Amino acid sequence: MGHTAPCIRFRKAGATSVTILANPEHEPFAALDARRSVPARQLTAPGPDDATLLRMLGAASRVPDHGKRVPFRFVRLAGEARDAFGAHLVRRAQERDPAIGAAALEKERLRFSHAPLIITVVAVLDADDTKIPELERLLTAGSVCFALLQAAQAAGFGACWLTGWAAYDRDILATLGVQRHERVVGFIHIGTARIAPPERERPDPRALLSDWRPD
Ligand SMILES: Cc1cc2nc3c(=O)[nH]c(=O)nc-3n(C[C@H](O)[C@H](O)[C@H](O)COP(=O)(O)O)c2cc1C
Repeated sequence: MGHTAPCIRFRKAGATSVTILANPEHEPFAALDARRSVPARQLTAPGPDDATLLRMLGAASRVPDHGKRVPFRFVRLAGEARDAFGAHLVRRAQERDPAIGAAALEKERLRFSHAPLIITVVAVLDADDTKIPELERLLTAGSVCFALLQAAQAAGFGACWLTGWAAYDRDILATLGVQRHERVVGFIHIGTARIAPPERERPDPRALLSDWRPD
């Protein structure tokens, strides 16, 4: 940590790590404008240590939260647990599609083994809560995912927000300990970027903005 400007460290194969610094002239938007995903397959060790992770989760938990419900929690997948989870994905993928090919199965096996750390963001949606609409609690949990992407980048790591079928499969959710009143809103893959993260075209805010006027 200790960066004064937003950056993503990335490491080319066989090279020492390189740091991309956002243009400080663009402060205070630099960190926001530099935000982008790094594909999970391009994330490698090292990931954040425990202290840095807790710092990141603390920052990511500073989300607007109607009624202060804290409608989210985190499940960490790291180390050998990632490979064990991959084995579950393979078994379940075969159950879902007995004709699945070897290449597709290999993809499932490795899906959670690229990045050194995956934080599962779980929305906790208490059905008895009639005061705060469920949608709003879900939005809070989704905001945590985005805030965690930003926190990872602020700490010098690359990150990517993924879901995929595993986030919706009841059997996989049970494996993760996700209960009936909970939903996985994101698997946040976090690690050191192998490549300078690719940029994509961004929406033009002028095309998105309109003014409401009274008739
Ligand atoms: C809720 C949610 C789920 C996503 N799940 C996937 C996914 O399963 N696979 C995928 O390729 N991209 C997925 N994405 C898109 C990526 O996270 C990312 O937004 C995209 O690669 C564009 O990169 P950017 O973050 O730099 O705009 C998801 C995004 C959101 C918001």
